[in-house]
Amino acid sequence: MSDVYLNGQFLPLDQAKVSVLDRGFIFGDGVYEVIPVYGRTPLALDRHLKRLEYSLNGVRMPHPLSSEAWATLILELIDREPSADQSVYVHVTRGVAPRDHAFPKDVAPTVFAMTKPLSPPPAAWIRDGVAAVTHDDFRWLRCDLKTTSLLANVLLRQLAVDAGATECLLIRDGFLTEGAASNALVVLDGRLLAPPRNHLLLPGITYDLVLEAAQRHGIPHEERPVAEAELRRAEEVMLTSSTREIVPITCLDGQPVGNGRPGPVTMRLLELYQEYKRP
Ligand code: PDD
Repeated sequence: MSDVYLNGQFLPLDQAKVSVLDRGFIFGDGVYEVIPVYGRTPLALDRHLKRLEYSLNGVRMPHPLSSEAWATLILELIDREPSADQSVYVHVTRGVAPRDHAFPKDVAPTVFAMTKPLSPPPAAWIRDGVAAVTHDDFRWLRCDLKTTSLLANVLLRQLAVDAGATECLLIRDGFLTEGAASNALVVLDGRLLAPPRNHLLLPGITYDLVLEAAQRHGIPHEERPVAEAELRRAEEVMLTSSTREIVPITCLDGQPVGNGRPGPVTMRLLELYQEYKRP
């Protein structure tokens, strides 16, 4: 693995060490971003840095680096990794302090970043689609913040794995929120429907890019609540994420979605998404 970044230094992974008193370890007191890189160019870096700022503000953490310093760090990390396509992970915690829930005073945040090669979603996922299961969304009420406190997401995603599925779609009070590690959009009566951006889901960068592509190319779309019953009778369901692009979901809780094959809107959006990947 190429060098990682920790608190101002680039160093081999096995030399990157954090105290067991780091609040990221003790409380999951941190925020993060995952940024896709194509042809050594980060995709929508400004949006990812803006969302990182939003998450830092949301958990009342000081900003450890300026946007320019983040960009320099991320480009340096990308330079050190041989693969042209990568996924960069950046992570900030509230730092190292004796265990106490209240914020420590005068503590430097821990800043960590790493990158790894990024492959496109497997061809079979695009050809046949993937299976998803649904579950009650038992996460907290600030899912708009990209925090490292991901235990609920971990448990929900594992339910999908246990069922031999790829993703777990989450339902809160009768409405679709998102996936355990992705956004979810549906096509109903030929219209692309996206659950609205609010505190119940992460404002995905891929979700944004997909809606913007739909807007530019005249694909009918709407940001509005999607009822569970609508999800179940949708012609198409898809997940979006920075690492998985757009993936058709063709089986939901063991039932076929639409005709059980990837649908035309999903495939068109996937094709349009490839344009974003050309630097
Ligand atoms: N996760 N919702 C959740 C809960 C997510 O974890 C993610 C992505 C998304 C999609 O956001 P974006 O399009 O900006 O990647 C939505 C990343 C990839 C992860 O945790 O690894």
